[in-house]
Amino acid sequence: SIGGQTFEVLLDTGSSDLWVASSNCTIQDCAKVPTFDTSDTVNLTLSGAAFHLGYLLGSVTGMIATDTVTLGSYEVSSQVLALANSTSGLDLSGTGYSGILGLTFPAEASIPGTYGQTFIDNVFASLDENDRFFAYKLGRNNSDSSFTIGQLDPTYANSSSNFTYIPVSSAGLSNGNYNFWKVPLEYITINSTRFDLSRSSVSGASTNIGILDTGTTLLLGPSADVARFWQSVGNARNTDSGWQVRCNRAAIVGFVLGDGDDQKEFVLDPTDVNWEPGTQQDGWCMGGIQANDGVFSGDWLLGDTFLRVGVLIIKLHNVYAAHHAATDSSPPKIGLLGLTDPTAALAQFRAVRGDDSTAPAEVHSRAPRSFTGADVCGIAVVCGFVFGVILSHLLHIWLAPRGRKRSKY
Ligand SMILES: *[C@@H]1O[C@H](CO)[C@@H](O)[C@H](O)[C@H]1NC(C)=O
Ligand SMILES: *[C@@H]1O[C@H](CO)[C@@H](O)[C@H](O)[C@H]1NC(C)=O
Ligand SMILES: *[C@@H]1O[C@H](CO)[C@@H](O)[C@H](O)[C@H]1NC(C)=O
Repeated sequence: SIGGQTFEVLLDTGSSDLWVASSNCTIQDCAKVPTFDTSDTVNLTLSGAAFHLGYLLGSVTGMIATDTVTLGSYEVSSQVLALANSTSGLDLSGTGYSGILGLTFPAEASIPGTYGQTFIDNVFASLDENDRFFAYKLGRNNSDSSFTIGQLDPTYANSSSNFTYIPVSSAGLSNGNYNFWKVPLEYITINSTRFDLSRSSVSGASTNIGILDTGTTLLLGPSADVARFWQSVGNARNTDSGWQVRCNRAAIVGFVLGDGDDQKEFVLDPTDVNWEPGTQQDGWCMGGIQANDGVFSGDWLLGDTFLRVGVLIIKLHNVYAAHHAATDSSPPKIGLLGLTDPTAALAQFRAVRGDDSTAPAEVHSRAPRSFTGADVCGIAVVCGFVFGVILSHLLHIWLAPRGRKRSKY
């Protein structure tokens, strides 16, 4: 809640700012969601400074303010946030949320640090060093999802001992700086066969870099690798609305994350690789992995399609290291607990989608070529979230002929 008023916001690991649509927002998109009433709160202070966050598609404009913000049992009495006067291209009415709560590093914040810290940093400041983490599980429905701060959800894990920890990568940044929740992505597997990736477009990176982004619906990678991926899976085609695959095509796809000795494979449910029988058109389904050459700061955006593999703990041990002398001992890190059982997931997929008697996957080895990643997103452009919006539009087009509701978003 903000100033005692309750909202639903998108929890976005691909951006840093907290903003909510205000009652001054009179555009149609704001009319369909609860908005913040500036006259119905006692602690509000308006800074008078403008806020603008530009997206690849769409934007949000408003004013920087502070008010009391609570989330679960945590309360921050003077939290900086933005009150949005206007949004465009964000489809609030379609998704039902009134704003976004960003959960990545302050380096990506549009609200200057001089106005105050991000919400998650303020909460972390009140916790013991070892409890400075948030954990989440993205389910297929509300009853199978979870978000906690400072403690694990016992439904999914009682201790962090089974998690694989991956230090956050600062590739492309000067040493010790962090912007997104980036992890080394070594290679992909398709039905247990290794699928190598083209060279990273991130300067100085020795592996591909994946950005963990809850604000992105699908998994996005460089177009050349994604094309080779679908050619390897087979029974796939590229269309105006992205890659499609025959709905009964089952592929067990793994992402191998981490550096050196700490590599671990995380396996996707075939249902996340080959999306939703309900969205099919003449037996073609939407691919859960799509091409995008505009990924900023990394090579792959590991969106919800990937993040459903299990439970994640995101720890900010020394997020303040850039501002304070080295008082803390370890870099930020991400703990991943894979929950997908490939055998059970495949059986379930087959039961729903039916058998596929065509030729098995034939993994295409890497064609040597130099990679050119276009940095179409500039500084402070939150690409992760934007891609989510683009793909939700894309999915909308895809769903429209079937007249289905976009209940997922
Ligand atoms: C937002 O709307 C309020 C009230 O109409 C106005 O005072 C303020 O200047 C606007 N801010 C921006 C940045 O447009
Ligand atoms: C965690 O502990 C509780 C209480 O003992 C138990 O009910 C729950 O199943 C445990 N969770 C896991 C993931 O093992
Ligand atoms: C992948 O392996 C599974 C299990 O053997 C099989 O059912 C499926 O058809 C394979 N998929 C492809 C694309 O080869």
